[in-house]
Amino acid sequence: MKVLIIGSGGREHAIAFSLSKSKKVTEIHAIPGNPGISKIGTCHNGSVEDLDFILQFVKEHKIDLTVIGPEVPLCLGLADLLEDNGFKVFGPRKYAATLEGSKAFSKSFMEKHNIPTAKYVEVSTYEDALEALNKFEYPLVVKADGLAAGKGVVICENELDAKAALKEIMVDRLLSSAGEKVVIEEFLKGFECSLLCFTDGETIIPMVSAKDHKQIFDGNIGPNTGGMGTVSPNPFLKDMDEILKQEVLNPFMEGLKKENMDYRGVIFIGLMIDNNHPKVLEFNVRFGDPETQVILLRLETDLFDIMNAVADKSLKDINITWKKEHAACLVLASKGYPGKYEKGIEITGLDDVNEDVIVFHAGTKLENDKLLTNGGRVLNVCALGTSLEDVRQKVYNAEKSIKFEGKYSRKDIGLA
Ligand code: AMP
Ligand code: GLY
Repeated sequence: MKVLIIGSGGREHAIAFSLSKSKKVTEIHAIPGNPGISKIGTCHNGSVEDLDFILQFVKEHKIDLTVIGPEVPLCLGLADLLEDNGFKVFGPRKYAATLEGSKAFSKSFMEKHNIPTAKYVEVSTYEDALEALNKFEYPLVVKADGLAAGKGVVICENELDAKAALKEIMVDRLLSSAGEKVVIEEFLKGFECSLLCFTDGETIIPMVSAKDHKQIFDGNIGPNTGGMGTVSPNPFLKDMDEILKQEVLNPFMEGLKKENMDYRGVIFIGLMIDNNHPKVLEFNVRFGDPETQVILLRLETDLFDIMNAVADKSLKDINITWKKEHAACLVLASKGYPGKYEKGIEITGLDDVNEDVIVFHAGTKLENDKLLTNGGRVLNVCALGTSLEDVRQKVYNAEKSIKFEGKYSRKDIGLA
């Protein structure tokens, strides 16, 4: 089977790596891919937003399954275009992808289908937003409606902060059209947890748990990033499978059916858990990055079989099993990230890493045979092991061998 992966990050490298273990997968292609993926497949220049180019590619190469990594092509309707032309896709169609593409849409979906979430109001003018502030206590949360690459959520401690955030989003339009509408919501206490599930719209199967570390600095301080590292299982999550099923997954599936949403892919549910009660912070319509790196390392079942069953709506026939081992992923970032950072800095030492560690490429490029940094998150150092301590030791040992100027990583992955 020929598989095409859309995207270029550590998540896509981890998906490619997992698919490369399948005996059924004979060819792996990626648009645009990265130097890590190019060791196990063929990378092709092109933009993930160029839907016509991707369709032509799928036709020419007779691709059997296209796996869409990032949210942008999903929200643009790449799954619809490929499926309507007769091709198999792993990833939801545009209407369902709006669960991530619009915060207002996703909040109204949650409210309508009794999925627990923070109280909120939706506003589309600055004046209405200022008035709505009176309905909340502080801190409160201001969220730009559209896709904003992680920059659309502001936690406001007081009225001054809230007015400033609303002005930037709605008047100054710092996030351009993503700020046409805004959701203002109640601040939730508790601990955060990501729940990723496979679903074909009929059956939903949760993956093993993972803990992301969103802030840039140790101790969970500083600005939010795309994720600085993950461990699986989530050491903070005690057994909540039944509660999550009853309170979140069942109403979510009911909602999909009532709304006639054709959802075949991954649903990533961001949760805040307080006193054993989950509330949904957000939906993402794709694998998380860097959650995927640790989750897929623990997957025993053939990933191609799962993805194919999801695309065919036969997920109920698949038994998914996981390794008991722990996994960790440490993100090596560029100095300055998540703010401004330099690109094009040489990376060395990847060949010195122990064999029991795998390094996924997240933001790298090859130029004249030299591996260079090409993003904020550069590399993902990952390992499986017998315990949290064991995997932490493996990734932090390996990290020492990898060198590039300005390399930054958190030291407390799995602990904080
Ligand atoms: P979101 O993109 O909606 O998940 O928001 C990004 C991050 O902001 C989340 O991972 C939380 O850390 C934080 N956040 C979002 N909404 C809330 C809320 N209602 N209460 C507390 N923290 C929140
Ligand atoms: N790690 C969070 C995300 O992928 O959105």
